[in-house]
Amino acid sequence: MLDKKEIAHTIIIMKKLGIVTPGGDAPGINAAIGTILCLSRNEKKEIIGINDGYKGLVKSDFTDMKGLSYEWLMGVSGTILHSERMSSFKEKKVLKKAARNLDNIGIEGLIVIGGDGSFRGALDLHRVSGIPIVGIPTTIDNDIYGTEETIGFDTACNTALEAINKIKDTAVSFERIFVVEVMGRDRGFLALEVCIASGAEAVIIPEIEPPLEEIAKGLKKARAKGEMNAIIIVAEGVSNRRKIAQFLEDKTGATVRESILGYIQRGGSPTRRSRMLAVEFANLAYEVLKESPTRPKMVGLQNGETTTMDLEKTVEGYKEIDLDKYKLHRSLSNIY
Ligand code: F6P
Repeated sequence: MLDKKEIAHTIIIMKKLGIVTPGGDAPGINAAIGTILCLSRNEKKEIIGINDGYKGLVKSDFTDMKGLSYEWLMGVSGTILHSERMSSFKEKKVLKKAARNLDNIGIEGLIVIGGDGSFRGALDLHRVSGIPIVGIPTTIDNDIYGTEETIGFDTACNTALEAINKIKDTAVSFERIFVVEVMGRDRGFLALEVCIASGAEAVIIPEIEPPLEEIAKGLKKARAKGEMNAIIIVAEGVSNRRKIAQFLEDKTGATVRESILGYIQRGGSPTRRSRMLAVEFANLAYEVLKESPTRPKMVGLQNGETTTMDLEKTVEGYKEIDLDKYKLHRSLSNIY
């Protein structure tokens, strides 16, 4: 799994591991937790849950997770450990306190389940404490470098698709254009995927200059041919959604309505895909952590296979949007 030089000289047989979920929740986080609990129970290791993200580490807010069952955790979303973003978790004295608390309770290795911000915190914590850490990537935005997919992305896509199907019904009835905003803090992975899978006419994402004139022209042409309704997907990270809707209304003469899908995309029972990814990532993370990696690691999916990479590389890297996918969307749309 790891190169010999990546493993501590003397592997300590860890008896107590910690889990923390400091980022935005995503469907499948609990499935990953359940998997780790199950595997560790088989090997008589103790798992300590850290409540409220890194805040629980600083406040010594721990939970023993004894009564939790794998079957139940597989199907529920959110995070049973709760989450809280903690901006001060980079200050030396805060990190030192967290390191002391880890030591006091005897946690020998840590699994950090989250996204970019969680992983930055993990690296800082490792620097002051030296504790072995493995990250599991979860976010509905799917924007983490080093993994083709993150836990929760598939469920969020399906939730958005279900909502768009419903919006389509009213778009058809009223011959309207709908501008639908999907989540994605500053990236367009969710928007692009949902656009292709829903058969939407266009997608507007932060990574690509929006061809607004072209979209408006295409929509007008389509309407002249009797194709009166349309769905335009806009990623949350595109800040001028309202202006875009107004522009399209002015240019096409159609009624343009906006719909923000929002936080429903973060909830709901995880899909098979999100659950399986959670199980496979958690399994690998558990195995890697037991080898006491000297540098923090992240598990991920590359070329369809689960693998590991340095967490530092993940945090420094930038995941490119798939331009071929974007081109494919344009070929499929009836407005280009
Ligand atoms: O990172 C996941 C995400 O849901 C983004 O899509 C969104 O911009 C952000 O989190 C919202 O964060 P918060 O929960 O802090 O409002």
